[in-house]
Amino acid sequence: MLNLEYIRSQFPGLETDWVLFDNAGGSQIARPVVDRINEHFYTSNVQLDGSYPHSVLARERHDEAHRKLAEWINADDPKELIMGSSTSLLVRILADNFRRILRDGDEIIVTNCDHEANIGAWRDLANYGFKIKEWRLNPDTLALEKEDLEDLLTKKTKLVAFTAASNVLGMLNPVKEFTRTAHKYGALVCVDAVAYTPHRLIDVKETDVDFIVFSFYKTYGPHYAMMYGKMDILNALPGFNHFFIREPPYKFQPGNYNFEFCHGLSALPDYFADLADKHGYKGENNRKERFKYIYSLIAGHEEGLSRKVLDYLNARNDIKIIGPVEYNADIRVPTIAFVQKNRDSREITLKTDEDKVAIRWGHFYAYRLINDLGLHKQNGVVRISMVHYNSLDEADRLIRALDYAL
Ligand SMILES: Cc1ncc(COP(=O)(O)O)c(C=O)c1O
Repeated sequence: MLNLEYIRSQFPGLETDWVLFDNAGGSQIARPVVDRINEHFYTSNVQLDGSYPHSVLARERHDEAHRKLAEWINADDPKELIMGSSTSLLVRILADNFRRILRDGDEIIVTNCDHEANIGAWRDLANYGFKIKEWRLNPDTLALEKEDLEDLLTKKTKLVAFTAASNVLGMLNPVKEFTRTAHKYGALVCVDAVAYTPHRLIDVKETDVDFIVFSFYKTYGPHYAMMYGKMDILNALPGFNHFFIREPPYKFQPGNYNFEFCHGLSALPDYFADLADKHGYKGENNRKERFKYIYSLIAGHEEGLSRKVLDYLNARNDIKIIGPVEYNADIRVPTIAFVQKNRDSREITLKTDEDKVAIRWGHFYAYRLINDLGLHKQNGVVRISMVHYNSLDEADRLIRALDYAL
């Protein structure tokens, strides 16, 4: 069981009379992250790599953040982490690098169901002579099937772009299996983990992903993003910076980047490691094991939240859940989308506002998915998105608000 009283005390933004269930849009920021951002501003807000102590400290803080974030996602080398303002921008930087090394006729596979960030940047390469293929989800199960991917892969496929978790369906994809399938054909993978990292631990070694990218503003941090890339591939790419900056990560990070957020984000892995200790972790003195331990407790708690909301929605015959109807934590995260018969999704959301329950309607930039499901005409779906700091009492408040709104 998670100690929600303690956890919620770490998120000052939760001190409101609203129930915040729009976490897939943006989560609350953890207090220790804010504290370190302030610490940077007050004690090391200077340019890195000078000889004076403030600058030395700024460099130490920066490197420590990269070390901790690398350990958190199980990357060997902190230089494999590229920081940027958003996932959308980082994917565009990566796609621009591929544009410069691909050859005419090379193929890229994108899906029809993900956030546009990991689709559009790749699709735009069609303008440069590359062939874009679409991996479509199974319209009955709403799942991406490995067999369909295999039908699309050829020796010319250079990259497959897909997500770890859908920001609309809440569905988890088997990242390791999809990656293995792409690798059989010599293709690389670029995985969007934005809707995954608030709920589950990334393990770049286990999954063997080539690139994985996510945004901290949905994972308890500020508006900032990070992309992991395998070092040998980063070395082989041309970069996106001045000609004399040849080393990862700087070759992909033009200009100064956000040192205050970097230092702040060193507190995020600390938050999860400390949470493990607060929840009775008794294993080896090892942060990676602590991460695994606390994330399994988080998955258990989230399963309880999903069960409550899904049981309610499943019991109504006027509601269609858009995504897995099961609450099992191996299949989904507690991001739950639905429509009510032909009703406008926006209308429902405005009603739940009256009860101070914040949810959201729309296409959530998974524009192609909503289009292919024919849901644009009713203003997309209603999306409820919960995370580990949300309580079962809040889920009850949501259900009461839905009872009124539906
Ligand atoms: C799954 C997914 N990918 C990518 C993005 C885009 O992230 P950013 O705003 O950092 O570009 C979002 C934001 O909603 C998202 O939910």
